[in-house]
Amino acid sequence: MVEEALQDNWIAPVGPHVDRFEEEVARYVGSAGATALSSGTSALHLALKLLGVQAGDTVFCSTLTFVASANPILYEGAQPVFIDSEPASWNMSPAALKRACEQAELKHCLPKAVIVVSLYGQCADMEALLAICEHYEIPLIEDAAESLGATYKAKASGTFGKLGVYSFNGNKIITTSGGGMLVSDDQALLEQARFLATQARDPALHYEHSRIGYNYRLSNILAGIGRAQLQVLDARVEARRKVFTRYFEQLSGFEGIEFAPEAPYNHSTRWLTAFTVDCDKAGVTALQIIEALAERNIEARPVWKPMHLQPLFKTSSYYPHKEQESVSDRLFRTGICVPSGSSLTEVDQDRVIAAVQAALLHTSS
Ligand SMILES: Cc1ncc(COP(=O)(O)O)c(C=O)c1O
Repeated sequence: MVEEALQDNWIAPVGPHVDRFEEEVARYVGSAGATALSSGTSALHLALKLLGVQAGDTVFCSTLTFVASANPILYEGAQPVFIDSEPASWNMSPAALKRACEQAELKHCLPKAVIVVSLYGQCADMEALLAICEHYEIPLIEDAAESLGATYKAKASGTFGKLGVYSFNGNKIITTSGGGMLVSDDQALLEQARFLATQARDPALHYEHSRIGYNYRLSNILAGIGRAQLQVLDARVEARRKVFTRYFEQLSGFEGIEFAPEAPYNHSTRWLTAFTVDCDKAGVTALQIIEALAERNIEARPVWKPMHLQPLFKTSSYYPHKEQESVSDRLFRTGICVPSGSSLTEVDQDRVIAAVQAALLHTSS
């Protein structure tokens, strides 16, 4: 398909592969339509604009995420309020969201939107979160940048809110090197997204503009790559789940090691395999394991540093899972993500496993 795009000489930003890629992603996830964009971040930004988020508005957002989930709130001059995770999925806590909504209603400042992130390849408890949003009539945006291919009760991640967002960045389960997609059952919103993403050009022979526009469209060439990638998505999900299973079988028996759970309602892609380390039981900290892996040239990372702990958001409000329990703080302190690529060989996996085991056993073997 990339060759086709090159042979067609259709290097212009818009082209037949963009339309096909949108149709194919929409069909795959079961949404009415899709708009292909230059990144997941631009998709989130447009999602907020489409829902009318403006300066001074409030937007609720999962705290345990990559900063790209929250930055677009600042682009619009709106105020983020961060919501904690719950232990069952590591994603947004319905209990914390409910408390945040109750308090916002009392202060007459309900948010204009809620951004629910489906982290590390699995959905949040979407039914519980949607019920709260519907009660307060707040539109939900699902940031499914990390969870394309996952399902919640057999429905595709990304299709739960008014708008859903995918990313095709280089590190994602399928990639166009850079790219994103907005999905929705509301075709009018998706059309509006195309308009805003192509410099908001009003219909006229000359160049007429009455709104601020953006250069956010995915190119035809990258859409061609995306179409080819989509064909291997299911195989990649299976490969990532296999990587997870191998790690789980070899490491879950160690005292103090707990793998990210797969909630009963979820089918995770296991985009990243993550586990927590209870230092009192394991005898080492998560950071010590990360350092031990680095010594063997293996890259492991802590779980995302929550947004409410970031200097960028130091003035933002935060609602923990329970009054006295912040789940995301604990996950950040104790969590590790290990190499999880779909093409990671068994030899490489064994190398990671041996390194973690050595760190846990305090040996250098
Ligand atoms: C949770 C989450 N949201 C949004 C994004 C942004 O996507 P992109 O890099 O395509 O802008 C990413 C990843 O990069 C992400 O992990």
